[in-house]
Amino acid sequence: MPITAVIGGQWGDEGKGKIVDLLCEDMDLVARYQGGANAGHTVNIDGETIILHQVPSGILRPDTACILGHGMVVDPVALSEELDILAQHNISTQGRIQISYAAHIVTPVHKAMDRATGHVIGTTLRGIGPAYADKARRLGVRAVDLRDTPQLREYLLGRLELGVKQGEFEPDELDTVNRELETFLAAADRLVPMLGDSISSLHHAIDTKKNILIEGAQGTLLDIDLGTYPFVTSSHPTSGGIATGLGVPVQQIDRLIGIFKSYTTRVGEGPFPTELNDEAGDRLQTEGAEFGATTGRKRRCGWFDAVAARYSCQINGFSELALTKLDVLDQFDTLQICIAYEINGTQLPGFSAAIHHLNQVSPVYVELPGWKSDTSSLKSAEELPPAARNYIQRLEELLHVPIARVSVGAERNQILTL
Ligand code: IMP
Repeated sequence: MPITAVIGGQWGDEGKGKIVDLLCEDMDLVARYQGGANAGHTVNIDGETIILHQVPSGILRPDTACILGHGMVVDPVALSEELDILAQHNISTQGRIQISYAAHIVTPVHKAMDRATGHVIGTTLRGIGPAYADKARRLGVRAVDLRDTPQLREYLLGRLELGVKQGEFEPDELDTVNRELETFLAAADRLVPMLGDSISSLHHAIDTKKNILIEGAQGTLLDIDLGTYPFVTSSHPTSGGIATGLGVPVQQIDRLIGIFKSYTTRVGEGPFPTELNDEAGDRLQTEGAEFGATTGRKRRCGWFDAVAARYSCQINGFSELALTKLDVLDQFDTLQICIAYEINGTQLPGFSAAIHHLNQVSPVYVELPGWKSDTSSLKSAEELPPAARNYIQRLEELLHVPIARVSVGAERNQILTL
């Protein structure tokens, strides 16, 4: 099974890091293809929590190499901090991380731009949108440019001037950005030994039958083309992004795993048909400890939306699914799954028919009994209570894709194989 990809099926935060971490045991190489430091993959190992933002979770296994692909926007300052945190955990990164020469770079100017406008859709303020915008405007700085510090400094000063002229950030940001430039240049310099031709590295790994894992960040419904625009990120977290973000042809991917949380969450603004603004929503938020791994914001919570999830399965072509955080539902008397959307009593044919007026749809629910027992201590799927099996089976029927794994807690060993 040489190439496996793991992709978020909802609005991000599905628990991909944990599944990736599990799969990494057998992987020679793990690669990311989009996004940047807006991602936050939380992995718990032996009671210790590590949150990774840019380095693929493969770094936590000693023999796995990691690639940051050219579809990413890499933040040198945040990456440098991440390398320090990994070192504090005695995880060696030496010679194990390759950053594509063609990856775009998030600069202090981009972060200032995000601070000026990001509140409109509730971004993570990591400069992601502005960095991708500069890439599209052919103004971007790429990883290959980090090799020439004097020229990079000149470029940044020029970009800063342009930003001032075009009113791209608040004038009082100027001092902050100027101050951040030196830290940025030092961090950029630290990354230079890691730069490389990631397309050759990946194709060499493919040709020599290495096991490769491709790690998605964010989630399908945040895809700039296929998600709930404009409340989206600026990249392609869907499977299509792999081909452009890594230079790996789609037909080379043997296994596409979609990750879904057992309920739904969303951070930031934007429509969310199954959102619960009541006691059940609060309970999901508290029980699930639903705070953003990158920004610490409270996540909005709601029931599982099978209409959105079915769309996600269709457009990604998932071959199997993993369902995470089932244990969060343990103590509910009853559970609801959204099986259709209605507008004025008329049922819509699916998510894509509703995507342009999601704020107006009413979810149609099916109610299922809860299991009212602790699943977090279970050691095998056979031990799952019948109502929990019923919930999983119902989702499989609605999504038309088999659920191969269920996670029931934050630890590495709390994943059940079905
Ligand atoms: P940006 O990616 O920082 O530009 O933010 C755009 C939207 O995507 C906002 O609604 C963010 O909350 C959301 N977002 C970005 N990254 C993540 C993530 O890793 N998990 C969940 N939501 C995210």
